[in-house]
This record gives sequence, C-alpha cells and structure tokens, in this order.
Amino acid sequence: MVPLIIGCPLELFKGQVMNPINVGLVGAGTIGGGVVKILAKQGEFFRNKLGLPIYLKRVADVATQRFANLPVGDAACSANADDVLSDDEISIVVELVGGTAFARKLVLDALNRKKHVVTANKALLAEYGPEIFSAAEKNNVSVLFEAAVGGGMPTIKTIREAMIGNDIHAIKTIINGTCNYILSQMSGAGTAFETVLAEAQANGYAEADPTLDIGGGDTGHKVAIMASLLYGGYVPYDSIAIEGITSITPEDIAFAAELGYCIKLLGIIKHDAEANVVDVRVHPAMLHKEHILASVNDVFNAVLLEGDAVGDILLYGKGAGEMPTASAVVGDIIDAARDLVSGPVRRINMDYYAQEKELSLKPHGEVISRFYLRFTVKDEPGVLATIAAMFGEHGISIASVMQKEGFAKDAVPVIFLTHMAREEHFRTALQEIEHKSFIKHTTQVIRIED
Ligand code: HSE
Repeated sequence: MVPLIIGCPLELFKGQVMNPINVGLVGAGTIGGGVVKILAKQGEFFRNKLGLPIYLKRVADVATQRFANLPVGDAACSANADDVLSDDEISIVVELVGGTAFARKLVLDALNRKKHVVTANKALLAEYGPEIFSAAEKNNVSVLFEAAVGGGMPTIKTIREAMIGNDIHAIKTIINGTCNYILSQMSGAGTAFETVLAEAQANGYAEADPTLDIGGGDTGHKVAIMASLLYGGYVPYDSIAIEGITSITPEDIAFAAELGYCIKLLGIIKHDAEANVVDVRVHPAMLHKEHILASVNDVFNAVLLEGDAVGDILLYGKGAGEMPTASAVVGDIIDAARDLVSGPVRRINMDYYAQEKELSLKPHGEVISRFYLRFTVKDEPGVLATIAAMFGEHGISIASVMQKEGFAKDAVPVIFLTHMAREEHFRTALQEIEHKSFIKHTTQVIRIED
C-alpha cells in the first residue's frame, strides 16, 4: 500500500505513484529543531507543489526531552542514532550532532549504507573531507553541506553552481558571528574584549567554550572548505595560517577609527594564478570604512566573491542560529530529494576532493600586505627615526605615523602604517626593532586589507 503523507495519497501527484523520500534526523538541538519546524511548515508545499514526497520518518537525539517541544508529527523518535541508520527506508540522513568523533562515524556509516547525507558540520568536512567524500563516491551517494559555511547564506551553491562560469580569484569573508558581534560591541562602546565576551556568553550569543570562534578556528574550517571547492583540491585545515581576535584592544579599535578604518576578523582566499598557489588565511584585519564589508556588523556575516566574469558578488545574512541554519539544511534535503526523484545522484561531483589532491598553498612569508603597528615605546629622542630607518633597511616603507600626547613618558603608544610589504621581510624587521631598549611592550600588529 502507498503510504499516506498528511492525508494526501501519493498517487495524486500528477498521476504518478512515487515512493516516499524518507528523511532521518540525528540531532534535534537548536538547528535540528529548526529543521523539524521547517519540514512541518513547508512539508505540504514540498509534497503537493514540488512533487517531492518528503517524509520525516525518524528523529534521534540522546536528549529525548527535546522531542516533546517539536512538531515531529508521525516521526519515530528515539535516543539511538542506529535506529536511523538501520532503517532501510530512510534515504537521506541529516547529521546535526556536531563535533568530529561521533559525527564522523555516523556520516561514514550512513554513506556506506548508501544513504545521502546532509550535514552542517564544517569541522568534520575541513578535517576529514577526503575520507568522507571518498566514501560518498564509492557508494554513489551525495554529501550536501550548505549549512556548514555561512549558515543561511547560500555560499556553497553560489560557488559550485551560480558562479561556476567564473574564475573566482578572491574571497574575503566575515563568517563568524561571534567574533563580528564582539568586535562590533568593542567598537561601539570601547568595551574590553573580555567584558564583551562575558556579556555575549550570558546572552547566549557566544558558546560556553568560545575557543573555536574567538581563536579563528571556525572561520578557518569555513575558508578551508571554500578554498577546496574553488580550486579543486583539498586544503588541510592545519595548513592555514589562523589568528583570532583575542589580542585586539579597544585602543586599537579607537586608533583604527581615527585613521578611517574598522577591525574585522576576515577569512581571506586569493588565487595567485601566475604562481598557481592559493593564499588562504584567517586574521583580524583593518578595513577602510568605505569598504563594503566594513558595514557588516553584530552577528551578521558576509562573503565577498570576486569573479572574473560577473565582478563582485556580496552575500550578506545570518550565518548562524536556529532558523537561518535550518533554512540551508532543508535546501540540501530538497536538493537530495530532487536528485532521488529525477534520477541523477551526485549531480555535483566531489571526486577531486576524495582523491586527496592537495592544493598548493602560498607560503605565509610570501604574502604581501600593508600593516598597522602599535608600538609601546619610551618617549625619547630618535625613537621614531630609528624605527623608520630599521624598516627602511628591509625595504619597508612607512605610509603614516601617529603619536598622541597625554601618556606616561615611559610607555607611549606610537602607530605606524606601512605601505605594501612582504610578510617575511616585515617580520624580520619587526623582530630586530623589538630588541631595542626603547620598546616597552610587545608590539601589536594588524594587517590592512584593501
Ligand atoms: N559559531 C559560529 C559563529 C556559528 O559564531 O558564527 C557556527 O559556525
């Protein structure tokens, strides 16, 4: 007998009898809960208008009390993910448990049972991508992961489908809402990093353990995935140069503002076509206030993609949270269901990723950029001239200098902005300057991105 879905016999869809497309969800936390809500709200539209007989058949979560507050309908709910994996009628498994240990096992198990997988797990893909995509290839099923990068913003689809006709030669992105919120709050009120972080945690904007966010790792996972998709090879997460925002002070934000800049945590991907290497990095950066990313504030995310044919494209929106992330997960469920109905599977191949062909990354020392430096120096004759001369000896040119009155003579902040300089030359010069006796604290360095 053909199953009924919300009272609608399947054979009514354009006269065709279709098997149900059963979905199994593992993880009914914040995002999983959002997915259940969207499937309940939009299910009839998917079935009756799109002709996709999608049915949430099972939900698994160890925190079984979550089920009572969700519109799970007729779905069988249990604490055991094996109930989802061992159900032969489930063809799409949605993994929303997070972490990499259990999730890796779950995803590989689902793929080996020839089920399509939808996941929001950026860490899993950035760290175990080749293993996962090779299991998908071997079993001729798909791994879909729009929600892993940029939450509700259609970043993966834009890169792999909408902009596929372009050489996307650069991406600059603000893709961690926690960091963007913290930096925005610090800019507004001049509050210290630790204070804003504590407030953000109290308000639920930041994780209890925020290390991955504020240390830049979450942004690193996302740029690793994007760079891999853009240039056709695996980018190992641990090969990316990553700096977080913990050293940024309200003083730096105020000095930057005075010079016409704001400070954002950026993920940067640049293709050096001539050398055939890709520059992938994550660090705080000063952006001119007129830069299109400078107006991306609070928890909002943005991805600026530079294509050779289309020019610049800016994606802007909510990169995290229950419903924005669930929106991307459901988009992937629909993609998998469309493939199941219309025949092709693995419409977008990931073979190049599965083969562990690593991209050649640009050595970090060869990256060229401008720098902001905040020296803390003893206010005595010859200090500025000595710093400028030492930079000059390494071929580094100073663009501007700022010193304020009103500080104690033995610890005065002096701000330098350089012209373009090669990272390794800059670091060598700075190391030599840091040995001078007039230097009173470790120098703050922030790259300037134009
Ligand atoms: N923790 C991330 C953020 C969202 O703060 O943007 C999930 O990647």
